[in-house]
Amino acid sequence: MASLGCLCWVSLCFSFLVVHADGQVTHPEEVWALKQVRRALTDRYKNLNWTKGDPCVSNWTGVICNHLLPGDDDGYLHVQELRLLNMNLSGMLAPEMGLLIHMTILNFMWNQISGSIPKEIGNITDLNLLLLSGNNISGSLPDELGNLPNLTKFQLDLNNISGPLPNSFANLNKAKHFHMNNNSISGQIPPVLYKLPLLMHFLLDNNNLSGYLPPELANMPKLEILSLRNCNLQGSIPDFSKTKNLLYLDLSFNQLTGTIPTNRLSDNVTTIKLSNNNLAGTIPVNFSGLSSLQKLSLENNFLNGSVPTIWQNMSATRIDRLILEFQNNNLSDISGSFNPPPYVNLR
Ligand SMILES: *[C@@H]1O[C@H](CO)[C@@H](O)[C@H](O)[C@H]1NC(C)=O
Ligand SMILES: *[C@@H]1O[C@H](CO)[C@@H](O)[C@H](O)[C@H]1NC(C)=O
Ligand SMILES: *[C@@H]1O[C@H](CO)[C@@H](O)[C@H](O)[C@H]1NC(C)=O
Ligand SMILES: *[C@@H]1O[C@H](CO)[C@@H](O)[C@H](O)[C@H]1NC(C)=O
Ligand SMILES: *[C@@H]1O[C@H](CO)[C@@H](O)[C@H](O)[C@H]1NC(C)=O
Ligand SMILES: *[C@@H]1O[C@H](CO)[C@@H](O)[C@H](O)[C@H]1NC(C)=O
Ligand SMILES: *[C@@H]1O[C@H](CO)[C@@H](O)[C@H](O)[C@H]1NC(C)=O
Ligand SMILES: *[C@@H]1O[C@H](CO)[C@@H](O)[C@H](O)[C@H]1NC(C)=O
Ligand SMILES: *[C@@H]1O[C@H](CO)[C@@H](O)[C@H](O)[C@H]1NC(C)=O
Ligand SMILES: *[C@@H]1O[C@H](CO)[C@@H](O)[C@H](O)[C@H]1NC(C)=O
Ligand SMILES: *[C@@H]1O[C@H](CO)[C@@H](O)[C@H](O)[C@H]1NC(C)=O
Ligand SMILES: *[C@@H]1O[C@H](CO)[C@@H](O)[C@H](O)[C@H]1NC(C)=O
Repeated sequence: MASLGCLCWVSLCFSFLVVHADGQVTHPEEVWALKQVRRALTDRYKNLNWTKGDPCVSNWTGVICNHLLPGDDDGYLHVQELRLLNMNLSGMLAPEMGLLIHMTILNFMWNQISGSIPKEIGNITDLNLLLLSGNNISGSLPDELGNLPNLTKFQLDLNNISGPLPNSFANLNKAKHFHMNNNSISGQIPPVLYKLPLLMHFLLDNNNLSGYLPPELANMPKLEILSLRNCNLQGSIPDFSKTKNLLYLDLSFNQLTGTIPTNRLSDNVTTIKLSNNNLAGTIPVNFSGLSSLQKLSLENNFLNGSVPTIWQNMSATRIDRLILEFQNNNLSDISGSFNPPPYVNLR
C-alpha cells in the first residue's frame, strides 16, 4: 500500500517535471471542456488519442494550441483549433465546447455528428471559422451564434438543420461566407441580413424556405454568389443591378412570379439561372452584352416576346462557352440575325 502510494507520488512528480520542461500546460478549464467534448463523441475508428497527458503538450489528435502569445500570457496554453474533419466521428457536440473561448477554428466537417448545434458556441468570441459541413446535425440554428463578432466563414451545408435563419445573424459583421445549402431551413429569409457588410457567398439552395425573396438582399455591398435554387420562394425577383460584384445568381426551381427586372447586371456576372419558376414577360434587352456571361438558364417559365441577341458585343475570339437555355417558354424568335458564333450553345 505504502509502496504503491510512493510510486504514484513519483510518477506524479515525474509528469510535473516533464510538463515543466515545456514550461506550460493547457488551461485546466479547457482540459475539462475537452474531456466533456470527448465524452459526447463516439470514435468508432479510434482516431482520437485523447487519453494520456496534457492536451496541448502531448499533442492530442486534432487539438491545436497556441504557444506563448506575448503580452497575453496568463501562464497557460490555450486551445486554438479543433481540427477533427473526416474522422468518422459520431455522437454529439458537447455544450462545454463553449468554454474553449480562445478557439478560432472549429472544424468537424465530414463526420456523422448528430444532435443540435450547442448555443454555447456563441460564447467563443474569437471564433473565425465554424465548419460543420457534411454531418447529420439537426435542430434549429441558435440565436446565440449571432454573437460571434469574428466569424468569417459559417459552413453547415449538407446537414439536417431545420427552423428559421435567426435575425441575429445580421450582427455577424465579419461574415464573408454562409454555406447552408442542403438542409431543411424554413421560414422567411430575414430582410435585415442585408446589413451584412462583407457577405460574399450566400448559399441556401435546397432548403425549405417560404415567403418572398427580400428586395433588401440586393443591397448587400459585397455579394458575389447568391444561390437560392429549390427553396420554395414566392414573389418577384428583386433588382440586382445595384449588386456591383455579382458573379453568380441562381434562383431556379422556386415559384417566383412577375417579370425579370430590366436593369443591367454587373458586367462580371457569369451565371444567371432563373429556370423553373412562373416568370412572365420578356427577356430583358440588358441581358445582351454581358461580356463575362457563360450561362443563362430561363427554361420552364412563361416568358414571351422575342429573344435579344445575348452574345452582342462579345469577343469573337472568346474561349468560354456561352450556354443559353430557353426551352418551354412562349418565346417567338431570336431578334436580329440568328447566326450565333461557335462558342454559343443554344438549347
Ligand atoms: C508535440 O509536437 C511538438 C511540435 O510538433 C513536438 O516538438 C513534440 O515533441 C510533440 N510531443 C509529443 C509528446 O508528441
Ligand atoms: C497523438 O497522436 C499524435 C499523432 O497524430 C502524436 O503526435 C501524439 O504524440 C499522440 N499523443 C498521445 C497522447 O498519444
Ligand atoms: C472511415 O471509415 C471508412 C469506412 O467506413 C474507412 O474506410 C476509413 O478508413 C475511415 N477513416 C478514418 C480516418 O477513420
Ligand atoms: C455561455 O453561453 C450560455 C448560453 O448561451 C450562457 O448561459 C452562459 O452564461 C455563457 N457562459 C459564459 C461563460 O459566458
Ligand atoms: C474578436 O472580436 C473582438 C471584438 O470585435 C476583438 O476585440 C477581438 O480582438 C477579436 N479577436 C480576434 C482573435 O480577432
Ligand atoms: C434527416 O432527418 C430525418 C429525420 O429527422 C431522417 O429521416 C433523414 O435521414 C436525415 N437526413 C440525413 C441526411 O441524415
Ligand atoms: C441522422 O440522425 C437521425 C436522428 O436525428 C437518425 O434517425 C438518422 O439515422 C441519422 N442518419 C445518419 C446517416 O446517421
Ligand atoms: C443537395 O440537394 C439536392 C436536392 O435534394 C440534391 O440534388 C443534391 O445532390 C444535394 N447536394 C449534395 C452535394 O448532396
Ligand atoms: C417543409 O415545410 C413545410 C411547411 O412549410 C413542412 O410541411 C414540410 O414537412 C417541410 N419539409 C421538410 C423536408 O422539412
Ligand atoms: C470585375 O472583375 C474585375 C477583376 O476580375 C474587377 O477588377 C472589377 O472591379 C470587377 N467589376 C465589378 C463591377 O465588380
Ligand atoms: C438597361 O439598364 C440600364 C441601367 O441599369 C437602364 O438605365 C436601362 O433603362 C436598361 N434598358 C432597358 C431597355 O431596360
Ligand atoms: C406576353 O404576355 C403578356 C401577358 O402575360 C401579354 O400581355 C403580352 O402582350 C405578351 N407579349 C407578347 C409580345 O406576346
